[in-house]
Amino acid sequence: MSSGPDPTLDLGPDDLDIVDPDSYRNGFPHATFRRLRDHDPISWWPEHDGGKGFWAVTRYEDLLYVSQHVELFSSAQGITLEEIEGDDFHLRRNMLEYDPPEHTRYRRLVSKPFSRREVYGYEEGIRELARNVVLDARELGSSFDYVDRVAKQLPMKMLGRLLGVPDSDGDWLVEQGDALLGNLDPEMTQYPVGLTDTDEFKHIPFRSPAALELYRYAEQQAELRKGCPAHDVIGKLLEPTIDGERLTELQFKNLFVLMVSAGNDTTRYTMAGGIKALAEHPEQFAELRQACIDRNDEVVERAVEEVLRWTSVTMHFRRTATQDVDLRGTHIEAGDKVVIWFSSADYDERQFPDPFRFDIHRTPNDHVAFNLRSPHLCLGAQLARMELKVLFEELLPRIESVEIDGTIERLRSNFICGMKRLPVKVAWA
Ligand code: HEM
Repeated sequence: MSSGPDPTLDLGPDDLDIVDPDSYRNGFPHATFRRLRDHDPISWWPEHDGGKGFWAVTRYEDLLYVSQHVELFSSAQGITLEEIEGDDFHLRRNMLEYDPPEHTRYRRLVSKPFSRREVYGYEEGIRELARNVVLDARELGSSFDYVDRVAKQLPMKMLGRLLGVPDSDGDWLVEQGDALLGNLDPEMTQYPVGLTDTDEFKHIPFRSPAALELYRYAEQQAELRKGCPAHDVIGKLLEPTIDGERLTELQFKNLFVLMVSAGNDTTRYTMAGGIKALAEHPEQFAELRQACIDRNDEVVERAVEEVLRWTSVTMHFRRTATQDVDLRGTHIEAGDKVVIWFSSADYDERQFPDPFRFDIHRTPNDHVAFNLRSPHLCLGAQLARMELKVLFEELLPRIESVEIDGTIERLRSNFICGMKRLPVKVAWA
């Protein structure tokens, strides 16, 4: 039997290493981060692999401050712990790694197809994908791995519908996407960073050869649309805006790689975290199920927000101080790495009363799973929200109950908090 996010999970005073991917093998160490929020909200962490160390920002209010003050805390020197220099960085740079005003221009070029209105234009196709995956799972009987049979099947195919790539390429794209964000886990890639020598890939996104495969795929997709304008998202991204600006070829390819990585397992792990939370809160499962049957959008959309806060799958992103600055009394020097911890901020008692209570009605719920109010607010936020909503609406009315039915296995990562296997037992309606 498993339980929700464990408020007592503690790396312990002697075993306290928030960098080691193995520190997250049992889930996010909430007790450790609560202690940091309470007693050392801006704490210094050395790195043992040659990295220069970093500041960990763990409170909600401080995370917002760092995210919003882009003139003090820059994304333009990398957004993960890895330190990448010179040309290597410029070649693999994607839109996350720009500051205003370049970022603002970049974002203007790409944001329209991801607005709520545009994304809802794809709802029917996405609903059909969700329904088919649920009906296929039903064929398996009552016990199955929810990650493998449901959560993993959907996000890439759903994103693929927007991008305009064939459904049949979905499995291949999932494999490449897994190798990118799962680049620390030997089950996800042949080249796990830190466990094998990945130096030859340091100039490509995520230091992963999968990015080269995706570059080639993106080039082919762009080629297919030459002289034959398409109304899908790839087509729209390749068109110039009304001001005549357009993405360069490298920007387009890096954005494609970013979408395939960011739009794949983040949503998958949120879907898995959502069903786990409902399995552990049967009364809220029943209430949400009824709301799905009644098509009560308000309740379902609020539940989606709580699932996003509860799972908060991207544990951190990095910034770099552009000048000496004092943050909550801590002196940070120009050039220091500053890492903002979303999974900690989403459980900050100062912002969320009783944060370890799962509550599908939680209001307000200004979680930071998408880095709300930041210029880098997740581009796929409306898409991810719709995917989660549609899955609930297609799945919950078809099952009467769900429980966890075996051992959960987690991704080896200090970056993404996810379940690789989630055995469930359901009673089909
Ligand atoms: C539940 C699912 C998701 C979560 C939790 C998530 C989380 C995030 C977060 C926290 C950021 C901000 C990073 C920062 O501040 O440096 C971000 C940015 C981004 N996300 Fe997502 N994401 C999700 C789904 C998606 C999807 C489906 C896409 C597909 C297009 C996507 C594409 C992006 C892109 C392109 C950015 C960069 C935006 C910018 O720099 O302006 N994400 N995401």
